[in-house]
Amino acid sequence: MPERTPYIAGNWKMFKTIAEARAFAKDFRPRAEGVEGVDVGLCVPFTALAATVEECDGSGIKVCAQNMHYEPEGAYTGEVSPPMLTELGVNGVVLGHSERRQYFGETDRALQDKVPAALAAGLEPILCVGESEEEREEGETERRLRHQVQEALEKVDAADLGKVVIAYEPIWAIGTGKVATSEQAQDAIAFIRALVGDRSKEAAEVVRVLYGGSMKPDNAAEILAQPDVDGGLVGGASLDPESFAAIVRAAVNAK
Ligand code: 13P
Repeated sequence: MPERTPYIAGNWKMFKTIAEARAFAKDFRPRAEGVEGVDVGLCVPFTALAATVEECDGSGIKVCAQNMHYEPEGAYTGEVSPPMLTELGVNGVVLGHSERRQYFGETDRALQDKVPAALAAGLEPILCVGESEEEREEGETERRLRHQVQEALEKVDAADLGKVVIAYEPIWAIGTGKVATSEQAQDAIAFIRALVGDRSKEAAEVVRVLYGGSMKPDNAAEILAQPDVDGGLVGGASLDPESFAAIVRAAVNAK
C-alpha cells in the first residue's frame, strides 16, 4: 500500500487583508516548520496570495487560491486564470467549494474544465464535494457524491487522478459547529475513494481525500485517525495560527 502524506489545508474564505495574511504567516511559519510527514497549505484570498507566497517562501507551506477560471486568458471580467496564479508561485487551488456552488453558480460542468486546467498548469486542485442536510436525511448522500465526483473528474486522465486532492465537506457541517462523526467521515471518504477506484485502482490508493466541516483542535484527532481520512480542509479554525497549528499537530500524531 503506498503511503499517503496527510494534508492539512486552511481555507481562509473571505477573511484576511494583506497585512493580516502577513501577520498570520509570520506567527504560523515557525509553528509549522518543525512538522514532518504532513503537508500544510493555506488557501487565501486572491489579494493576499503574493504576500503569503513571499512570507511562506522556503518553509514548505503550500499557498493555494480559492477559485480559478479554466481558460488561460480571455474576456471574463473578474476572473483569474491558471497562469496568473502560477506566476505568483501559487501551488494549488480550491475548486467547487460548496459556497461557490451555492452563492456563485459554480457548476459541475465548469469543474470538468477547471480540474484538468489546474493540473495542466501544475496547480494541485482541491476538489470539494459534499451533500446537503436534506440529501443526507433522504439517504441521497452517495448519489450526490457519485454525481459530483464523476462529473468533476470526467476529463481527467486516469493516470492523473491521483494528483487531485478531494475534500469531502458535508454542507451541514460547514461553519455550523456540527461536525460529522468520525464514522460518517470515514464512510463518505471511503466511498469517494471507491469512486476514484472505478476509474483507476492505482489512483484510488494514492488520491488524498480530506474531511472539511467544523474541524477544530479538539475534534481533529479522532477524524484524522480514520483509515481513509487523509487530512482536513479547515475553515474557521485556520484563521488563528495556534488553533491551525494544533490541527496540524493532531495530523502528525494521528498517523
Ligand atoms: P469550517 O471549518 O469553518 O466549518 O469550514 C469548512 C470549510 O468550508 C473549509 O473549506
